[in-house]
This record gives sequence, structure tokens and C-alpha cells, in this order.
Amino acid sequence: MDIKARIKELTSLINEANYNYHSLDKPTITDFEYDKLLNELINLEEKHPEYKSEFSPTSKIGGPILASFNKVTHKSPMMSLSNCFSKEELEKFADKINLEFGDLLYTSELKIDGLAVSINYENGKYVSAATRGNGLVGEDITLNVKTIKSLPLELNEKIDITVRGEIFMPHDSFHLVNEERLANNEEVFANPRNAAAGTIRQLDSSIVAKRKLDLFVYTIVDDYKYVDSQSGVLKYLKELGFKVNPNYKVSKNNELSKIIDEYDLLRKNLPYDTDGVVIKVDNLLIHEEIGYTAKSPKWAIAYKFKPEESITEVLDIVYQVGRTGVITPVAVLKPVFVSGSTVARATLHNEDYIVNKDIRINDIVYVRKAGEIIPEVVSVDLTKRTNQVPFKMIENCPVCKTRLERKENEAFYYCNNLDCPSRNLNGLIHFASREAMNIDGLGEKVIHKFNEFDYLNKISDIYRLKNYYDELTVIEGFGKKSIDKLLKSIEDSKNMEADKLLFGLGIKNVGAKVAKELLKKYKNINNLANASFDDLILIDEIGEVIANSVINYFSNEINRELILDLENLGLNFNFNTKEITKHEFNDKKIVITGTLENYGRKEIASILESFGAKITSSVSKSTDYVIAGSEAGSKLDKAIELGVKVLNETELLERIK
Ligand code: IVH
Repeated sequence: MDIKARIKELTSLINEANYNYHSLDKPTITDFEYDKLLNELINLEEKHPEYKSEFSPTSKIGGPILASFNKVTHKSPMMSLSNCFSKEELEKFADKINLEFGDLLYTSELKIDGLAVSINYENGKYVSAATRGNGLVGEDITLNVKTIKSLPLELNEKIDITVRGEIFMPHDSFHLVNEERLANNEEVFANPRNAAAGTIRQLDSSIVAKRKLDLFVYTIVDDYKYVDSQSGVLKYLKELGFKVNPNYKVSKNNELSKIIDEYDLLRKNLPYDTDGVVIKVDNLLIHEEIGYTAKSPKWAIAYKFKPEESITEVLDIVYQVGRTGVITPVAVLKPVFVSGSTVARATLHNEDYIVNKDIRINDIVYVRKAGEIIPEVVSVDLTKRTNQVPFKMIENCPVCKTRLERKENEAFYYCNNLDCPSRNLNGLIHFASREAMNIDGLGEKVIHKFNEFDYLNKISDIYRLKNYYDELTVIEGFGKKSIDKLLKSIEDSKNMEADKLLFGLGIKNVGAKVAKELLKKYKNINNLANASFDDLILIDEIGEVIANSVINYFSNEINRELILDLENLGLNFNFNTKEITKHEFNDKKIVITGTLENYGRKEIASILESFGAKITSSVSKSTDYVIAGSEAGSKLDKAIELGVKVLNETELLERIK
């Protein structure tokens, strides 16, 4: 087959796989097969750029970095919806319309909690996308939207069309993004909506591509000839290749209340946030007649769910000092049950958050879980306010009493004392953690215990613990055996990869990946310590912010002393240039079932173990792979039921050959 034809064929195979996976949630090929197709396409396009289309699925990885977003005028305004908060109001809305227009049908759709987007196609090809902005003028986010996996770059019909929908961040992406931000010493997003909005405003679309946004499309703006109902629009959008939320319903007005109750149950198990139900007159032909107010259509309304909030009292406001010195105010609450668990503390994020919501000690407040996980105080019940004293941010570090500083353009206060016991202790916990130096037996609790006895205050103390051998072995809960084991893992950690050590130092903005990039170039921590700003920013992934952080860190006397100390203690400072690439089975839980043709079960188990896999006997949610030979029985059924990846013998052999 000639190359041009193969590129076309690969494009359509990948597009179809993308659609099945991202839009329908029904994968048709394995990840392995998918990667093979994609790699073949990437290679062919590299060799033959003349055949590469700008709509190729390989272009979903991000484009050039922008200086700012251009403004764009919407060809028809992006209106908003009027809201209602009770079933009575909803009934009134439908009764009023029915009175004038007869007994109509209504479409109910979930209201996705994200941000609205308008997307243009010409001749079936993706052209541009814009945010809502003020409804008339939005911002051009074409490159960012292009990275969304479920967005079709080519439609199934060659038409000019403008569609609108909601961009959102699914819960699992939200948690990953926040975990990464924590690891990089960055401020976390309060909820998935903020995370989606913050992501879409990134000037570098390759970052957007990594954050895994998603998109449900719900309307067509143009005059569309074939369709005369909202439910028809949703069906047609799906036919065109868009991801449409499958949970819509068409009903008479007397069923709306029941539908809302159903949605309120359903939403608790969805992998993304919803904040209501949008009810629209199904028949499009009478929309114009029903008409519009200045801001919103009169043929639709948004019923807002009561957020799952609980009421409790703020007993105190305390402060945490993170390892970078960031101060986080936390509300101590009278324990209260919210969305499935008891909550006794809730983040207050920062000073601005508390001041804007006017939260005070002894206030009665509403709390909820942001993204169903992190408890936060949402608002104050002002009717219960008596003589509470207005909040005032502390001025000194609660631990070391150093005067706090708030940086320009940041909402956070910092304790800049590098000798602050709380910073050091949290720094120590990070240093010993699994992601950094991975010192077995030196977890948070043990560190706190040794700190109480004054044996551990700063990172280098870890390597001097052995000087207190006799004292340590008599601490309650420890004995010779456990201390021997701990001291051995501490000694072993001296040989840890230097990038893990660099990450463990907790330099602001230097996460695990950045640490590796830095050492790839500088080879040794001392070389990095002497690098100049101009030299640092030459590295692809390093911008001014990271470069400044690195320079600041190494120009500080206390940090320099620590580095020298660690080197003298014998820690490895050299980057291992032989990159150890881990096999995809490393650290994975695998179950083998059925009969394999080429290997015995024991034999295959030991091969997999040599790749770092853990072989287990029963299938559960935490199983990563099930290897299914012939006549596989109930374990295979269970794997399918739980959505665990299943590999047959051929697929297995391809991966281990
Ligand atoms: S229809 C005239 N349908 O809610 C506006 N909106 O305040 C028509 N939204 O800006 C909007 N899910 O961002 C519609 N299924 C859905 C929706 C939805 C979320 C958002 C959208 C809109 C806001 C309305």
C-alpha cells in the first residue's frame, strides 16, 4: 500500500478507536494495539510531513505556546439560563408555557459543571473554539480545545456548523492534577470546575493535553435543516461524532419532578460534577415564538441541585506550615457528616478566601466536599451571626514566630525561615517519602516520634540517627530489630538516584520530572547548584519561574550547607545516565487464569515477576491485568465485570518478548 493511503487508513482507524474510547466509553482495541497504530502514524508523518493533515489525531498533543488569547466575537451570543431551585418553580415554568402552547414535550439534560465553549467547523473540519466570555465576545481557545480527546477534528458529514457544549474535568483527572501540583509545591485547585477553567486558560496547549479535559456537546447554533427537536439535535450531534451526554430524557411536564429525583441519585455516581438539570422545550420550531429575555431563552430553565452541604460550627482557625513555608489556614469544625464521611477540619485555602466569605471563629457555616473529596467551607449562615470577631490573618509563623511575607500576585503567605521546625519537619517527611528517597520505615509517624526526642530536626539528621543507636532501641514501640532494619534502609538510600535526592530537597516548583530534566543536563547536583539563570532556561522544560526557584534555593547559605553536609555524608550526587526504563508490568498486580499454550503457569509467573510484577490469585478492583488462557472461567468474568484489563496469550507474548 502506498504511504499516503496507509496514513489515511491509520488516521481513520485511530479516529474510530478514539471515538469508541473517549466518546462512547466502549474501547474496541487494546491500549497496546492503539499505541502501535499511533506510533506507526507518528513515524510515517515524521518521514513524510507532506502527507500530514492538520486534523491528524497526532495533533492532539498540543501546539505552539501563545503569548495571550485573542478575542473573538460570537456569531450568535452565548446566552445563559434562568435558574430555579425548587420543583414548584419548575412546575410554574412549564405550566406557563403549556398554557399558551398546549401540552408540550420537554428534554431534560444533566447540567454539567464546567465552562461553556463554542466550536466552529467548516466543511466538516475543526476550525476554532472560543470561551463564553461576556456572552458576546470570548477568547480564542482553538489550540487548547483541539487537545481534548473526545473532540472530533473531522465530522462524519462535510458541513459548516457551530456547536456549543461544556468543557469539564473528570474526577480522576482532577485528583491527578492536584496530586501533581502538591508534589510540585503548587497551590491545588479547589474543585474540578476551577481546575477546568484554569486549564483552559493555559497558554501552552501541551499542558492542556496532559490534564485530560473532556467535553459534552449539547446544542447547534446554526439553522439546521434536518432536525426539529432538542432530542433530535442530541441524536444528530452524536451521529456527527460528538460526545453527547447519554442521560437525556424526553417527557411531559408532569414527569419532570420524578426525572429530577432520578438525576439527583444518578449524579452521585458519575465520574464528573453536575450542578443541576437543564429542561428545554423539545420542539425547536416554537422556540422563537416562546422567545427570549435579554439574557436567557424563555424556552429553557436550569433546575439547580441542592449541593450536598452540611451545617456545623467553626471551633477554631489554625494554620499549617508546609515544607515550602506556605501557610494554609484550616477550619477546625464541630465534627459533621458530609457526603459519606465525618469531617472535622476543612481547608480555608488562604486569607482572601476567608475575607471574601467573611468566615469567623464560632460562625455557623455550610461545608461540602469539593470534587467529592476535599472538605471546604462554602459559606456562612449570617442569620446565626452574633458577636463573632472578624478574621485577621496571623502575622507571624505559628511555629517559629518569623514574620510572614505575602508575595506580590500570590494569595499565599510564607514563612521564609529555612530553619523553621515545621518546614523542616514537613521537608523531612517529603524527603523520606516513597516518591523521593523511599526510606522504608521512616514514615510520618516515626519522624514525629524521633522529632519529639530531638533526634530528627532536619534532613541531614537522618544520616546521623545511627549515632543514637542505643537511645533509639529503647523508645517504646522500637527494638533492636526494627532500628537495625531502619538504619539499613537509611544507609541504602545513600545510593538512591540523584534526581530522587534533588526532588526530595523540596525545591519550590521542582517536581520529580523537572528534577530528572535538570540532572539530565547537569549530571551532578553540585554542577546544578552552580548553574546560572541564563543557562537553566535553555532547558526545554524549564521556564523563568523554575529557574528562579533553583537559583534562589542554591544561593541560600543554609541550603548550601545542607548540600555540602549530604555530600560529605556520602549521598549519591551523580545522575545515572543509563536510564532505567521500567517495564509496563513493573509494580503491577497480575492474575493468571486458564491454560496457556506456550508456557506453564509457574513459568509465566516467574517471567512476569522478573519484570517487577506481583502475581496474585484473585481478581479485584486493584488488579491491573488478567492474563487469560483458553478455558478461563470465573476470574475472567470477574475481570470483565470490574473493567480490569485482560490480555490473551498473544498479547502477553508481544509485551514480554
Ligand atoms: S443549554 C442559552 N445545556 O449552563 C444557554 N447548558 O447558565 C443554553 N450547561 O452557559 C445552554 N450543561 O455552560 C445547556 N446540558 C446543558 C448544559 C448547559 C451545562 C451550562 C452552560 C451554560 C450554563 C447556563
